[in-house]
Amino acid sequence: MLPKPFRFPLLHARQHVAEFIKDLKRTHSCGALTAEAVGQEVILFGWVQNRRDHGGAVFIDLRDREGLTQVVFEQDVDKALQDLAHELRLEYCIGIRGVVKSRGGNVNPKLKTGAIEVHASQLQIFNRSEPVPFPLEDKIDTAEEKRLAHRYLDLRRAPLQRTLMARSKMNLVTRTLMGESGFLELETPYLVKYTPGGARNFLVPSRLSAGKFYALAESPQLFKQLFMVAGFDKYFQIVKCFRDEDLRIDRQPEFTQIDVEMSFVTQDDVFAQIEKLVAALWKEVLGVQLTLPFPRMKFADSMRDYGNDKPDLRFGMKHVELTALVAEHKGCGIPMWASFAEEKAGQIVKAMVVPASANFSRTEADKLEDFVKGMGSKGLARAKVDETGNWTQSPLAKTVTPEARTAINAAVGAKAGDLILFQFGREAQVHTVMANLRIHLGKKLGLIPEIGPKNANDPASWNLLWVVDPPLFEYDEDTKTWAAAHHAFTRPHDECVQYLETDPGKVLCYRYDLVLNGFEIAGGSIRLHDPAVQARVFKAMGISAEEAEEKFGFLLQALRYGAPPHGGIALGMDRLAFLLTGAESLRDVIPFPKTQKGTDLMTDAPGSVLDKQLQELHIASRAPAAAADKKE
Ligand code: AMO
Repeated sequence: MLPKPFRFPLLHARQHVAEFIKDLKRTHSCGALTAEAVGQEVILFGWVQNRRDHGGAVFIDLRDREGLTQVVFEQDVDKALQDLAHELRLEYCIGIRGVVKSRGGNVNPKLKTGAIEVHASQLQIFNRSEPVPFPLEDKIDTAEEKRLAHRYLDLRRAPLQRTLMARSKMNLVTRTLMGESGFLELETPYLVKYTPGGARNFLVPSRLSAGKFYALAESPQLFKQLFMVAGFDKYFQIVKCFRDEDLRIDRQPEFTQIDVEMSFVTQDDVFAQIEKLVAALWKEVLGVQLTLPFPRMKFADSMRDYGNDKPDLRFGMKHVELTALVAEHKGCGIPMWASFAEEKAGQIVKAMVVPASANFSRTEADKLEDFVKGMGSKGLARAKVDETGNWTQSPLAKTVTPEARTAINAAVGAKAGDLILFQFGREAQVHTVMANLRIHLGKKLGLIPEIGPKNANDPASWNLLWVVDPPLFEYDEDTKTWAAAHHAFTRPHDECVQYLETDPGKVLCYRYDLVLNGFEIAGGSIRLHDPAVQARVFKAMGISAEEAEEKFGFLLQALRYGAPPHGGIALGMDRLAFLLTGAESLRDVIPFPKTQKGTDLMTDAPGSVLDKQLQELHIASRAPAAAADKKE
């Protein structure tokens, strides 16, 4: 704010005219001025958001990242100024000098600056603008492709500006909190050696080592463990990660993690630090006081009740496992369930109830069947329960034994008018279909609250949950081997180590995910630093000592030099920002994101390169598109 006694030199045509930027520095942002500033002379810079002519006076809304201020160029004050003001068009970049006046009875309550307007005495057009390809307003229905192609204009829009400012604040809060907690922010390389497992890597050909490739780091995982070996016992980094995966709503090929690793810690210590961080982010950015500690759920319970390891607990509609019941009733008289007359590993039956209040028609139930078929399911068996507990509208009704029907109704808690939905078959498939169906129904029945300005400040809008104690291994049906469910350096529970050789599927481990409203926002583990147990884990996975050395040599070597017990976690910063700001897509919280196809519509990346460049890199392209480019 300008000090009170300060006055700008008076403007006289032939005197030195104070120049914007050089002499006239910005005094306020466009979101700062309130009734308290009335009478002050101010200087604002920004873009013309809109222009209105009222009886000779020109009114504009001047916009910068902080907000809008109404600026008036009055009639008959200064002819040159008036003429220049008439030239103003949308998105011209300008500077104005003027005096703040009250709007009197015309206050605009929607604007932070709605009580005032600035009566201009000087104007400079820094740069004119071509007509913009879409309106730069809060709500627009322009196709996203068009917005992405002119991302720098899209980013001028207030919602995106607010989101990116929130994201900047998240970085600041993270650095402050982690710094205060004794963490060092240390960097790790992006160009790394390819290691198998995990996500598909982007590869970068090496010019200096013919025929060799770097991988772009999918995370700093190995390096942060090496920091622990090196004695930097509390590390964090806000870091870019690269994964060449098929993109989904919550995935980008380049994304940012808040990556953390700590020595001499238990799982509880890691949780306490991350809870402190998440609480600080919500407090500082949203003003919401989250309740700590976050609840925990065992992985097995989450799979049983919700079909995945990232349940949204803001609504019910739990799954009910019926496998044992169906076996007990020898397939319940239902031909499709004959193969479930005995429990078989890897095969399950699950049910879920749509309450009578949903009042689903047959057509709506058929649409649900289409939905599950879209996920590769063969169909959606279902039964409507009537007043007497009988099943109607269902092929199952014809053959189900009365005892089995009564038992199923009781197990799922079905009442008259309820619709029971069934899935059966391969365990993984049943879980996935039922998990997606639950979310689909939750949305359809309005059970999942949308987060907006009305409820974002309510701690109940934020359902945070740790999912803990998953199995260390997953069985690969194709190769008939056990593979690490996450990575081979996760520490098994001490009491499970005995099963490493005899029953690997029973081995649980210290791996954990943090879930927010059904999205996985963080994942990590306590690492395995004991070489003897490590060797047994590799053996269980069918990996020989030589193979392990070849794949993970430098880490295994490092762990043999007095590695401390350690563990860590990485939070998905983009997902945190997406959820925290209520953005519509992950793309809205990333300044320059990629499309679903991994392209950048503004710069047109990825692009083709010259044959000469490929030769320098000792590679040739076999892609038909590249061959076509070459001919041109
Ligand atoms: P993980 O692979 O679980 O763990 O990743 C951690 C978190 O990063 C986010 N995330 C993504 N966000 C956007 N786009 C993507 N493609 C994407 N992939 C992952 C998720 C996820 O929870 N090194 C381990 C961490 C550790 O063990 O310490 C790791 O990277 O929110």
